Amino acid sequence: MKLSDDIEKVLISEEQLEAINTRLAKELSTDYAEKNPIFVCVLKGAVLFLTDLVRKMDSPVEIEFMDVSSYGDEMTSSGDVKILKDLDVSVAGRDVVFIEDIIDTGLTLKYLIELFKTRQAKSVRICTLLDKEENRQVNIKSDYVGTTVPNEFVVGYGLDFAEKYRNLPYIGVLKPEVYQN
Ligand code: IMP
Repeated sequence: MKLSDDIEKVLISEEQLEAINTRLAKELSTDYAEKNPIFVCVLKGAVLFLTDLVRKMDSPVEIEFMDVSSYGDEMTSSGDVKILKDLDVSVAGRDVVFIEDIIDTGLTLKYLIELFKTRQAKSVRICTLLDKEENRQVNIKSDYVGTTVPNEFVVGYGLDFAEKYRNLPYIGVLKPEVYQN
């Protein structure tokens, strides 16, 4: 099968993603030049974004991974977050930046930010590639945003539907028949 056959339209092209990463990397390099932050990548969707982003940065960053699941059906978040893989390092006194693929309801990040406050991080910020603002259920605002997207289910460049489509090099909208089946 060809993954691209399931895509209704390309929302963000490879060139646009490259431009977004260049801009965000510049902002982060400036803001964190002397801070040696910990970038916490939330698996698995943000992996492609993280690796492209940090390669464009010219300031020191540490990279850590967390895996969380939020119960609910496959396409919406319930806010009931479970940590599947935690960090291997302490964040106490450290500047943390969450690297996310997409903020939708905001429930996952709200939970993680509260958690990191109790772990006494010095600062906690969010950098998300995509922001589905319309669908927000809690008051969470990302400090760094690649671009906002409409309230449609998107895949590619790390984002999946049932673990598929993560390796598409662009962000696209799935044909409805793909997820209705
Ligand atoms: P939130 O807790 O609703 O903000 O959920 C964020 C998580 O839901 C993201 O990290 C994605 O894993 C997933 N998600 C939300 N919207 C989409 C989408 O359009 N495509 C793929 N995954 C999505």
